[in-house]
Amino acid sequence: MHYKNSQIYFDSISAQELAKEYGTPLYVYEAGRIRENFQRLDRTFKKHWPRFQIYYAVKSNSNPAIVKLLMQEGAFCDCASLNEILLAKKLGAKGKAILFSGNYLNDDDLKAGIESGAFINLDDVSLLDRLLKFGKPDVLSFRINPDFGKSNVHESDVMAGKQAKFGIPWERAKEAYAKAKEAGIKKFGVHMMTGSCVTEPEYFEAITKKLLDCVGPMAHDLHIKFEFIDIGGGFGIPYLPDEKPLDIEKTAEKVCDVFRKKTKEFGLGDVQLVVEPGRYLVGDAGFIIGRVHAIKESYKKFVGTDVGMSTLARPVLYGAYHGISVDKTRSFDKLRMTGFDKLRMTGHGDIKTGHGEPVEPEKVTITGQACENADAWAKDRELPKLEIGDLIVVENAGAYGFCMSYPYNGRLRAAEVLVDGKTDKLIRRRETFEDWLLGVENLDTAR
Ligand SMILES: Cc1ncc(COP(=O)(O)O)c(C=O)c1O
Repeated sequence: MHYKNSQIYFDSISAQELAKEYGTPLYVYEAGRIRENFQRLDRTFKKHWPRFQIYYAVKSNSNPAIVKLLMQEGAFCDCASLNEILLAKKLGAKGKAILFSGNYLNDDDLKAGIESGAFINLDDVSLLDRLLKFGKPDVLSFRINPDFGKSNVHESDVMAGKQAKFGIPWERAKEAYAKAKEAGIKKFGVHMMTGSCVTEPEYFEAITKKLLDCVGPMAHDLHIKFEFIDIGGGFGIPYLPDEKPLDIEKTAEKVCDVFRKKTKEFGLGDVQLVVEPGRYLVGDAGFIIGRVHAIKESYKKFVGTDVGMSTLARPVLYGAYHGISVDKTRSFDKLRMTGFDKLRMTGHGDIKTGHGEPVEPEKVTITGQACENADAWAKDRELPKLEIGDLIVVENAGAYGFCMSYPYNGRLRAAEVLVDGKTDKLIRRRETFEDWLLGVENLDTAR
């Protein structure tokens, strides 16, 4: 996303054009940015450890066009449910190109997992006997809880440690692998996912070391061979204006250094290093275009838009911050007449005139249209003065955005568009009243 004069563009297509063609609220993704994110991560890690594979965390954005785009780049799929597996298969993934990492699975999940031919990653040893009722996997992995995790977003995004519902405590990992070996399984993987949105390279180094210190002695004592070691996703992106991006070069170097040292120390060989990012690949490539519909001067000033808590759940769910940019095309001509040429306006109070003079921002709270006070999802933000009809653009909405949206209050799900250079493509149409009622039974008797 960038500004040309006061207009917001995604690649070479303006927010105004997209809003006119598809309406608002509208999820917009930049294909180029997704490719860049993938290639940067892939290239950087492969430089340090060539046997490296990215499994894309489908949960972070499961639009088939996005999943397919990443598969075309070389991503395999990390799936959390049978439906995500079905989606990956529909798009052409098979066998080891799918890793099934569910948690608290039922027998139907386990049966379908085995039948799908995906790599199975069990969240607990208690699932092993139940899985074996349906077949013996060629390769089996367990999710390990290394006893510490981290998240820059929210404590509920910390996925390891004593409070976490995920994985096998690392001290008990050996029992799990011993049991699987006894059951006749010959090939193994190991997995952890300790937290989401972390931007400190040292953290990734520390969890990798901890996992390998658990895996190494186990491989030796049980005489088992590991096909892959999956250190999870969690690579963070900056959401706040002053947040620093993750230094991926430093991260890859640190992770691979410790990986090389430890695999050598424990004789683990040229094992495949796996990561399963979601946010890092798609987070900053997604945006929501919304329109200002109502402005209220109450005890404070509220700007009502069609982007609400059901369009983007993260602010209400995690207290998450999303930058807001303002497209002032409607009123730009007016501003030009008053001398405010070449305006640049962002959600961070960075508002400059053509002469470099800052324009006084206004403090407002941005709200959606849901009947919940929590729907005032961007509080007391300094933004250029907004008028009815203006477009806002919510940043960093590519991960855990649309896929977490829901049709509360009959405010139905947004459309999604993929912009690729000079072209834009509708990749999910806007939900309709009929879609909302899809699956409803016995409507006649309800009347
Ligand atoms: C098992 C697993 N893998 C990968 C991810 C992707 O995490 P992120 O988007 O932080 O990279 C998640 C996120 O919840 C997860 O639960």
